[in-house]
Amino acid sequence: WSKWAMFKTTLKVGSVAFVATAAYAMYEFRHPAHQQDFDPSKKTVVVLGSGWASTSFIKAIDTDEYNVVVVSPRNYFLFTPLLPSCTVGTVDVRSIVEPIRFITRHKSRAVKVYEAECTEIDPDHKTITLVDNSDVKGSRESSTLSYDYLIVGVGAMNQTFGIKGVEEYGCFLKEVWDAQKVRTKLMDCIETAGFPDQSPEEIERLLGIVIVGGGPTGIEYAAELHDFLIDDLTDWYPDLAGKLNITLVEALPNVLPAFSKQLIDYTESTFKEQNITIHTKTMVKEVREKEIVVQRPDGKTETMPYGLLVWATGNTARPLVRDLMAKFPNTQNIRRGLAVDDWLRLEGSESIFALGDATATKYAPTAQVAAQQGKYLARLFQQMAARDRLQKELGSDLSDDDRKKKERKLQKTQDIKPFHYSHQGSLCYIGSDKAIADLPFGAGNLASGGVATYAFWRSAYISNLFSARNRVLVITDWLKKTFLGRDISRE
Ligand code: FAD
Ligand code: NAI
Repeated sequence: WSKWAMFKTTLKVGSVAFVATAAYAMYEFRHPAHQQDFDPSKKTVVVLGSGWASTSFIKAIDTDEYNVVVVSPRNYFLFTPLLPSCTVGTVDVRSIVEPIRFITRHKSRAVKVYEAECTEIDPDHKTITLVDNSDVKGSRESSTLSYDYLIVGVGAMNQTFGIKGVEEYGCFLKEVWDAQKVRTKLMDCIETAGFPDQSPEEIERLLGIVIVGGGPTGIEYAAELHDFLIDDLTDWYPDLAGKLNITLVEALPNVLPAFSKQLIDYTESTFKEQNITIHTKTMVKEVREKEIVVQRPDGKTETMPYGLLVWATGNTARPLVRDLMAKFPNTQNIRRGLAVDDWLRLEGSESIFALGDATATKYAPTAQVAAQQGKYLARLFQQMAARDRLQKELGSDLSDDDRKKKERKLQKTQDIKPFHYSHQGSLCYIGSDKAIADLPFGAGNLASGGVATYAFWRSAYISNLFSARNRVLVITDWLKKTFLGRDISRE
């Protein structure tokens, strides 16, 4: 009995300790401590962007060693892997964003955050120009900032290949507002299709959802839309749901070219079961207001009417990146993005570093790569700070013994290892509670697909979400969807 009593007491004490620790952590999170001021004797690092690359750098950088300034047109981090889920309301957009100040306010030294767009980088004077991107003052003010080191993590923009009409009529899927626009437009198409006296052709067009690009973005959007149709629209729009058509257009011979052959086949057969039409070897040539012009495998062109067009054909460099490349004509000549060395230093510059989708490296433009680069760069900066400190100390009067010790330490800090990417695998949701996964396994690869892989997909995304707050919100959204269904109101 005494063992049982001891066990109960331990359990009680453990629970009280757990609740107290959680409450304290929550209190600390909500009420961050006082931060050190900017220190003019420290170097200033200006970070452009608040995406995967920059946020992972900001999270890991030691602000005892540097003054840090963040410039980004959006004041939050966005967990892009769950963005397709936001287009149909499986997950709320607010659940997958994390205000950047929730991170910077917990650093030991105050970090300046400017919600602004960097419009120019001047490598000669080590300054950047930033423009306030809000309309609150009527006109947009601009300012300049000086840096000792600049981190370029501005990502990429949507690739359109200059195809006529894409910007005007297509919807992208990269930012929060894209997902909101797709959701609104989808509901508009459905409601308008139900308006009195629509011709059968117009109903067919309005309910024709065309997705261009069979990469992971296009596939995941098609999958989410399919689930929305089956789980919700069928109940709330019984007369229209059966007429909704999902078509995916891909220029290559198959979708998901980066995945293994068996997973491509599995995805294509799953889509067939889900009545999602895939047109491979079909290239979009022009986008018009209500139809697209495509070139079919036999070379013939035809038109395809649509109500909603989602354009997901990959990335291209932003104007800021192209402008920076033009300033280093001898070293920057890869059109895809910024050329960097193995330490993420911009080729041609000692003080600019670049990472994530803004760069052209041997790695795919993914969140995994960007996040690992951000963490690596913070470590590199730590080593650089230690090196600078030792060099300064070696310049002062030291005993022979101390000098030797510091020289040995300096030697170590100068041996900076290059960036090494560790691939954790690729995942993609394909609808009907199924996902596919290509995972590194020993020297080879483990390919799996199905419902169990979806459980893995969910747990992987939950554990990779940026904060406990995001985790709680996303799990709540998933439960809400399961028990109450998705919301079909317009955004
Ligand atoms: P981003 O995350 O795009 O961040 C760029 C930042 O720079 C943003 O904060 C932006 O506001 C800011 N910025 C832009 N212009 C300027 C400027 N002029 N001045 C200052 N700041 C600027 N990858 C995966 O590995 N797994 C996935 O499951 C996955 N799913 C995805 C789903 C979708 C729908 C999309 C679109 C992408 C997905 N990716 C995924 C890819 C991944 O999101 C990108 O590779 C990743 O976001 C790149 O990180 P980044 O920091 O380089 O760029
Ligand atoms: P992508 O570059 O992976 O795929 C774009 C597809 O569009 C290509 O297959 C291309 O052949 C096709 N295409 C291009 N022009 C076309 C045209 N005119 N007509 C028809 N098809 C055309 O782009 P995506 O999907 O936007 O992904 C961008 C990056 O983000 C990739 O690196 C991807 O791996 C990553 N990502 C990863 C996800 C995941 O791991 N689950 C999810 C979403 C994105």
